[in-house]
Amino acid sequence: MSTVTVEPLTYDPAGVLIPQTGLTSDDLSGLSPRLEAARREVFADLALWHRGGPIPPDKQPLDAAFIDLPERLLDEHRREREGGELGRILAAAQRLGETAERVVVLGIGGSYMGARALFEALGHPYHNELSRAQRRGRPRVYFEGNNVDDSTVRPLLEMLASEPEVPWGILVISKSGETLETAVALRIFLNALRASPGVDAKRLARLIVPVTGQNGRLRDLADALGCRDVFSIPEGLGGRFSILSAVGLLPAALLGLNVVRLLEGAVVMTDRFRSAPVGENPVLDFTGVCHLMELRRGAAIRVLSTWGKRLESVGLWYDQLLAESLGKNGRGATPLSVVNTRDLHSRGQQHQQGRRDKLITNLIADPASVPSPLAVGRSELDQDRLNELADKTLPGILEAAFLGTNQAYRDDRRPTATIRLPRIDEAALGQLFQMLMLATVAEGRLVGINPYGQPGVEAYKKNMNEILRSSGRIVL
Ligand code: PA5
Repeated sequence: MSTVTVEPLTYDPAGVLIPQTGLTSDDLSGLSPRLEAARREVFADLALWHRGGPIPPDKQPLDAAFIDLPERLLDEHRREREGGELGRILAAAQRLGETAERVVVLGIGGSYMGARALFEALGHPYHNELSRAQRRGRPRVYFEGNNVDDSTVRPLLEMLASEPEVPWGILVISKSGETLETAVALRIFLNALRASPGVDAKRLARLIVPVTGQNGRLRDLADALGCRDVFSIPEGLGGRFSILSAVGLLPAALLGLNVVRLLEGAVVMTDRFRSAPVGENPVLDFTGVCHLMELRRGAAIRVLSTWGKRLESVGLWYDQLLAESLGKNGRGATPLSVVNTRDLHSRGQQHQQGRRDKLITNLIADPASVPSPLAVGRSELDQDRLNELADKTLPGILEAAFLGTNQAYRDDRRPTATIRLPRIDEAALGQLFQMLMLATVAEGRLVGINPYGQPGVEAYKKNMNEILRSSGRIVL
């Protein structure tokens, strides 16, 4: 049981369990025995994984390692006096940040989305525009290898080369070590780095930090380069469940984020999941409400409605988590993440009056958590009639939009639930990531879909490789 202090996030399904939707809290209570059975199975999976013996065929693949990873990392860190894997992550981030003023982070899917979500939610929104002093010595960070797009790779290479006196490095993340998008990007950026002035083999070995599986092509390349820092993605940790390993923590540490608080938040959420009853358990309540809405009300589209710009990539991270985990065997709800108020002016119309096939879950931070919020302000140019709102703050207006939108949905019998973060910080996001990962695997066990693995993604990879490697096929 965790003893750290973390202000809890809340999950409130009150806008779903109302007479207008036909679902009540009794329905959720009625699902309790099955939700509890799913929870038992999730922890039994973890125990099975820890035993290290053969995994029964119906459980393969089993990527349960994420469940207690935050706890294990923190325990080891404390036991080894700030050392262990977490200590190595912090030290490597420090070294890379000192050696390189710019870092290109290469990865795709689960080896990208988490780092991006952390960068956008918790980093300075104009991080790369700040001076080195304003960044407190942290490097500028660029993401690539998440596509194969000449129109973004080339300008980045040109920009890196245009300031030869500003050193840059590469953080490459790929569990398999052979995902083509990431591998191709690494080849291109590595060739450019090797050709950069002053980069000899010794320096190169410090400028490239790979995060990869125990074996594979990237591991072989890292060995050949003699990389000073190489991180292993442990067995049993799937890509989209790896945000709280070196995959997400190393980029986070590079930005100077508080990775210990991220992990502490996650540990607190796992404890809540383990011990709280249905009705007080954010993981089980979220799982149950999503499941009931899909099963009984045909809400096959799950909208994660994020409020404020910084949470957009958190929404995209969740899109991947849900889609790759439960979109199998012709089943699985469709995730859709939106950013409000922006998308009220695009998708809002459909969510208000379109098909009744959606469950909207809001993700919003407490408006009171924003320090010194901006107010609208007074002006003698009051043609816009905003003087009457002069004292309203931006978080206050966002909250009004949130309340008004939910009221409008409720008036039309459109269900909404809300995840409320006490603030946007490491401890809150650690809770959130862990909550959504646990809920995804709990739902998988509830409905009999293995949430781990993504066999469907292999089909395109196989075809693409065949097309590229076979002679005589038309390839540009
Ligand atoms: O969730 C997953 O496992 C996938 O999205 C992978 O993260 C993604 O395909 C990238 O794979 P890799 O890390 O092997 O390059």
